[in-house]
Amino acid sequence: MSILNIDVYPAPVLKRKTEKILNIDDGIRRLAEDMLETMYKAPGVGLAAPQVGQALSLVVADPGEKDKPTPLILINPEITAYEGRTGITEGCLSVPGYTAEVVRHQKIIVRAYTLDEKEIELTLEDFPAIVLQHELDHLQGILFIDRISRLKRSIYDRKFRKGTLDQS
Ligand code: NI
Repeated sequence: MSILNIDVYPAPVLKRKTEKILNIDDGIRRLAEDMLETMYKAPGVGLAAPQVGQALSLVVADPGEKDKPTPLILINPEITAYEGRTGITEGCLSVPGYTAEVVRHQKIIVRAYTLDEKEIELTLEDFPAIVLQHELDHLQGILFIDRISRLKRSIYDRKFRKGTLDQS
């Protein structure tokens, strides 16, 4: 396994809509494992394939408790139902130095394939639901800074141009 390079805004791959994966082969398995390792190392709670330069419909996540690793690998994931509203301050490994609150659904149902080609359906609420919505946005070329108010976005863009985003 290896640690992959994480692309950061404004890398063009982050704006691209991804392709569905048609064959779950060794290349996809290796990519998924490398993405998990890269996510844990960062550290982060989710990572989507475009963030490592691959315009493919694949996300990894571990939105559970810190001392109990429960890695998720989702291929061609889709949200099939959603309800409620919630929101927390989000950040992104591809948008360093910036966080902002984003409005999300409180509960979602996600349908996806696993690495062994099983179709699964997950019902997620609160933090895990938010993480998965953030990651699935990446598959559509959407970053969390695309979901904040125009005013906040203009402040972000100005700081980005000036190079004055927090480096923490
Ligand atoms: Ni992200």
